[in-house]
Amino acid sequence: MKISFAKLAPPVQGVVVIAVPQAAKTKAKSAKAARAAPALGKTATALDRRLGGAIGRAMRAAEFTGKREKTVQLLSPGDGKIARIMLVGLGDPKDITVPAAESIGATIYGAIARETAATVIVEETGARDAAGLAAHIGAGLGLKSYRFDKYRTKEDAEAKPRLVNVAIQTEHVAQASKYYAGLSALNDGVFLTRDLVSEPANVIYPDSFAQLAKRELSKDGVAVEILNEANLRKLGMGALLGVGQGSARESRVLVLRWNGARNKSAAPLAIVGKGVCFDTGGISLKPPGGMWDMKWDMAGAGVVVGLMRALARRKAKVNIVGLCGLVENMPDAKAQRPGDVVKSMSGQTIEVQNTDAEGRLVLCDVLTYAQQRFKPKAIVDLATLTGAIIATLSEHYAGLFSNDDDLAGKLQEAGKVVGERLWRLPMGDEYDRMLKSLIADMKNIGGPQAGSITAAQFLKRFIKDVPWAHLDIAGVVWNEKGTALAAPGATGYGVRLLSRYIWDNYES
Ligand code: BES
Ligand code: MN
Ligand code: ZN
Repeated sequence: MKISFAKLAPPVQGVVVIAVPQAAKTKAKSAKAARAAPALGKTATALDRRLGGAIGRAMRAAEFTGKREKTVQLLSPGDGKIARIMLVGLGDPKDITVPAAESIGATIYGAIARETAATVIVEETGARDAAGLAAHIGAGLGLKSYRFDKYRTKEDAEAKPRLVNVAIQTEHVAQASKYYAGLSALNDGVFLTRDLVSEPANVIYPDSFAQLAKRELSKDGVAVEILNEANLRKLGMGALLGVGQGSARESRVLVLRWNGARNKSAAPLAIVGKGVCFDTGGISLKPPGGMWDMKWDMAGAGVVVGLMRALARRKAKVNIVGLCGLVENMPDAKAQRPGDVVKSMSGQTIEVQNTDAEGRLVLCDVLTYAQQRFKPKAIVDLATLTGAIIATLSEHYAGLFSNDDDLAGKLQEAGKVVGERLWRLPMGDEYDRMLKSLIADMKNIGGPQAGSITAAQFLKRFIKDVPWAHLDIAGVVWNEKGTALAAPGATGYGVRLLSRYIWDNYES
């Protein structure tokens, strides 16, 4: 699908969408006046006139007020050259946020997906940032258009979207185009993440994940390094290797670098992702119901790869290193057993009481490596780490844990702006104590209570004096029902959040 921006001009044919702001609430005496149809802009008014007032009549007949996301359809109005007109409400123009604008774009996409081309008129909206509104409507259309259908061989042609060209008419063509270029780069990153997360585990395993990332990100100018098991053994990553030792697939660590800051040698920001390409639980085997979901236990790593694409494609002025710990957690004669003790790269020993608490074992070694090699300014890790975070927050927020109030606050702020929200949970010694082991420095589970917090406390033991945040994204990266901006399946949560955080705090 191609999205472009064009000057305002009343369309003479095809499919037309008109974005209509809600009429300002007047202090009208009568209820009828308060429900007055909203005013159309110049372009839509010209079109309405040519159609003999059909748009105005439709608005009044439908009691359309421009309420956000409400739509009115006119089929073949006037002489029939215009195939269809859809009005979509923008709501109160003063409070159109980024998620609201993108959701309107997604609603438009849903309504016109079966058309081949459409013109969307976004004029005289009263929005504070009119160019931004047009651009984010475009971005929302793009986000909602993503599909992962490569394995369908028998899909009904009637069900397939056909939309290829969308022209968004605006007063601010140059500004909106420029703004949209950045958002389009961001969408490219989201789509790469969704692709990785959607692929089944017989296709995406540690080496194929790393090779795909290398193939894709090399094109974008990202430096890609792949560490194999021999490399990891040499580095002493006993915790990560212990998780992968029951798998026929070798483990990998992927290192991605983008140095876009003016000072190329400035300390980077490190983003670390959990990449468990399939999580059976290992010897602490999971029950079969829903186990297929564990193909997306690599979503944290998927976000890291998509984020690097987004940053590279929009030429972000930041030095960043992305690291992915890639393993497959399988039960096997060679698999690690409950009670085994492993030595992490940090030197700390871990009693593995539950082989299904494997994400933290992978992350702890990658976190150590990130700090030792790159001396980062700050570290953010993303992981589908605990089922407990889903019980706590459902699909509406990801869990945030941090040793730094400033970093935590800025991440929450970025999440609010893009609509990928974070809820901060507490940390403290009382939780840390729950990791005490009888025979090693710690065990990898904290017992039945506060499971997401004890997982975060485990990670914190590997952080040395650097601002760090851990995002537990188990509840937000996959959605069976679909979200405002994504079809059922992978959401790509995290790419837009971190891109925004970097934009606000490293580039502006
Ligand atoms: N990958 C899972 C967490 C998960 C569960 C992600 C459901 C997405 C959906 C993780 O490796 C895991 O198994 N965690 C255990 C930890 C427990 C054994 C302490 C869990 O949450 O049950
Ligand atoms: Mn697990
Ligand atoms: Zn897992």
